[in-house]
Amino acid sequence: MKIGLFGFGCVGQGLWKVLHETKGVKAEIGRICIKNAEKPRPLPAHFFTTNPDDILNDPDIDIVVELIDDAETAFRLVSAALKQGKSVVTANKKMIAHHLPELHALQQKTGASLLYEGACCASIPIIRNLEEYYDNDLLTSVEGIFNGTTNYILSKVFEENKTFDEALQLAQENGFAESDPRLDLEGFDPKYKLCILLLHAFGVFVEPEAVFHFGIHRLNAFDAEFARRRGGSLKLVARCYRQGDQVGAYCIPRFVPGNHRYASVRNEYNAVTLESAFSEQQVFVGKGAGDKPTGCAVLSDISALRYQYKYEYRKWQQNGSFFNTSDTELQLYVRYSTGASVADADFTEITERFMSGDTHYTIGRIPVRKLQRAAWLSDPRVSVVEIN
Ligand SMILES: NC(=O)c1ccc[n+]([C@@H]2O[C@H](COP(=O)([O-])OP(=O)(O)OC[C@H]3O[C@@H](n4cnc5c(N)ncnc54)[C@H](OP(=O)(O)O)[C@@H]3O)[C@@H](O)[C@H]2O)c1
Repeated sequence: MKIGLFGFGCVGQGLWKVLHETKGVKAEIGRICIKNAEKPRPLPAHFFTTNPDDILNDPDIDIVVELIDDAETAFRLVSAALKQGKSVVTANKKMIAHHLPELHALQQKTGASLLYEGACCASIPIIRNLEEYYDNDLLTSVEGIFNGTTNYILSKVFEENKTFDEALQLAQENGFAESDPRLDLEGFDPKYKLCILLLHAFGVFVEPEAVFHFGIHRLNAFDAEFARRRGGSLKLVARCYRQGDQVGAYCIPRFVPGNHRYASVRNEYNAVTLESAFSEQQVFVGKGAGDKPTGCAVLSDISALRYQYKYEYRKWQQNGSFFNTSDTELQLYVRYSTGASVADADFTEITERFMSGDTHYTIGRIPVRKLQRAAWLSDPRVSVVEIN
């Protein structure tokens, strides 16, 4: 197999390393397309090009691997490759989440395969398991810690008393963070993964804009102390679930007691918990970011192309579900400063209040539909955490 690779950053170089350290996959990287011709590279110059056509129009290249950090360009490259009949492997969750219907249609039309295991929780083989192993079980929920960067930051805050800023810097130095750190910190990245999992677990195409998300960007030392005093820590948890024929999803920081299984999921590790009617609860844990863990998932997809593997989107074919999270009620801790107009009327029930100086919090139940519309949620003085 001859590979044309787009992107030679953290994951692209990780793929190069794992491909050359394993004996199992007989594939060679023929050409690498990058953006900046002047950047020093660890490989000879003849590998590199800045012209995508050198890969897309090369008849000897049968597999395109897309590992760039620009979702819209990635979509153009991936679409062009599929239209040329080349199979594609990508780890670009933002691109996939925003274009799933088109990418699905392109695969149907061209017969070419698009695989993206590395896009969801990096080294955890969740998509292929949902496609193959869980195609007959009645899944009720898929949830977990889907973002390595924020889990790394929260681990450093809770275990090493780092500030949120210090911890972000460490995550960036280790290559875990997205080029645009907002994607991680504000919860976009785990939301994109939710959109992908919603299709493979429950068979629904959902636009990212329809999914409620809130990240760790507003958490501060007071929130961390709140969690410590209750004997636990905070984790960014994404969740999708089925209730009857309705499917819902949201992503929000969650208070996790010290004895909860997520408490031991530390640093860049991710966890995915599946609940289903027959096999009941199962948990996958593995590295959710980093060069080799992600490169390894990409390599596994390349390897699967040897036997013409394609996602069959079996849950979509079983169909019959529709997306609606709005009536789901969350038990929330809402922390705010004087002047922020957090509305009591948005809570269906209030169980606790706190007020000291400029810091206030209210604990109570709020339906997701109210959160989606709450103007106070965009106030930088407000932070929310789900507490069960
Ligand atoms: N890092 C992780 O742990 C991780 C985990 C899972 C998934 N991912 C996904 O994997 C993808 C790559 O992430 P990364 O961390 O490897 O990014 P990165 O380290 O920032 O590297 C990005 C690479 O893309 C190249 N590039 C950008 N725009 C390009 C264009 N228009 N044409 C050709 N090349 C272009 C850059 O070229 P230059 O070298 O010339 O700048 C660079 O080599 C992203 O979609 C990310 O979401 C990352």
